[in-house]
This record gives sequence, structure tokens and C-alpha cells, in this order.
Amino acid sequence: MIVWLIGLSGSGKTTIGNALYEELKTKHKNTVFLDGDVFRNIMGNDLGHSEEDRLKNAHRVSHFCKYMDDHGINVVAAILSSFPEWQKWNRDNFHQYFEVFVDTSMDTLEKRDIKDLYRRAHKGEIKNVVGVDIQFPIPNADLTIDNNENLLDISPQVRKIIAALPEFT
Ligand SMILES: Nc1ncnc2c1ncn2[C@@H]1O[C@H](COP(=O)(O)OP(=O)(O)O)[C@@H](O)[C@H]1O
Ligand SMILES: [Mg+2]
Repeated sequence: MIVWLIGLSGSGKTTIGNALYEELKTKHKNTVFLDGDVFRNIMGNDLGHSEEDRLKNAHRVSHFCKYMDDHGINVVAAILSSFPEWQKWNRDNFHQYFEVFVDTSMDTLEKRDIKDLYRRAHKGEIKNVVGVDIQFPIPNADLTIDNNENLLDISPQVRKIIAALPEFT
């Protein structure tokens, strides 16, 4: 099973994904957490954030997840995927795929903005920010989670995902 959390930078993918992973691995030992930033580091940080590099990264990450899936490893992937063709590839190629859209408004993102990304992007200081100058097509997800509410404890979001997940080993 590959559970893929999709959402804009700052939407809460890492926070929710990590908590989901901790919960899933109590029952499914063969589970790993794959975070987008960590994956880029593991690959040697050789790609930037242009559309071309994002496409290369999408190729890598989906093929890596397929490799894990083929070996019976469950993956919780917290990765900004902005390419519908790769989301389709995931659905066509993984044994089981469950896509979660972590939905947050630009207003919420600008308020949380821990990486100072949106402020700089709106001022034109940086380019290649998904949701600003790179389009983000709303994914055809299996589950959409509204993550606009400020939560001290993320577990209600995790419970929503677990309740919607199909059976897997
Ligand atoms: N529901 C929430 N309420 C309050 N803060 C949140 C919520 N979800 C995420 N955050 C915070 O927003 C920031 C961005 O979350 P993060 O999980 O790193 O996003 P992403 O991995 O999608 O970039 C973090 O500081 C995180 O603690
Ligand atoms: Mg993250």
C-alpha cells in the first residue's frame, strides 16, 4: 500500500504523514515514511524546483515507491506532486494506492509560511513556487482533508485517513 499525501508546500503533509506513519507501523511493521525533502537529500540534492527538475523528481519518487511496493513495503509518502500524469502512473502501477489531498487555502499557507516561501514568491523574489507561479491542478484524490483549522494535536487528521483506508497487509 502506498499512501500518498499531496498538498502545497506548508499544507501539513510532513506533519500528518509522520503521525500517520507512527500509527500505521504499530500494526504494519513493514512501513516506511518517505518525506519529499528527505528524499531529495538522499538523492544528493541534485535537482532544483524548476518544472523540468520537478518532473525528474516525480519520476524518481514514483519509481522508488513502486520498487518498495513490489517488495511488500508500505510507504507513507509526503510529497508535493503537481503532475496529474504521475498521479495516474501511481494509480496504474502500484499494487494499492491511496491518495490524500491535504487541502489548505493560500490564506492559511501565507499565515503559517514557515519557509518564508509565499511572502518571497508574491514579492517576486523567488520563482518556481507551486500554487504561485507553477500551477497546482487539484488532484483526483481518494480523500480530501481540510487542514485549515489550527490544531495543537494532528491526530484527528490521522484518524480520518485511517478510517478511509482500505484493508491492506
Ligand atoms: N492543522 C494544523 N494546525 C496548525 N499548524 C499546522 C497544521 N498542519 C500543519 N501545521 C504546521 O504548518 C507547518 C507546515 O507543515 P508541514 O507538515 O511541514 O507541511 P508540508 O510538509 O506540506 O510542507 C508546520 O510548522 C506544521 O507544524
Ligand atoms: Mg514537508
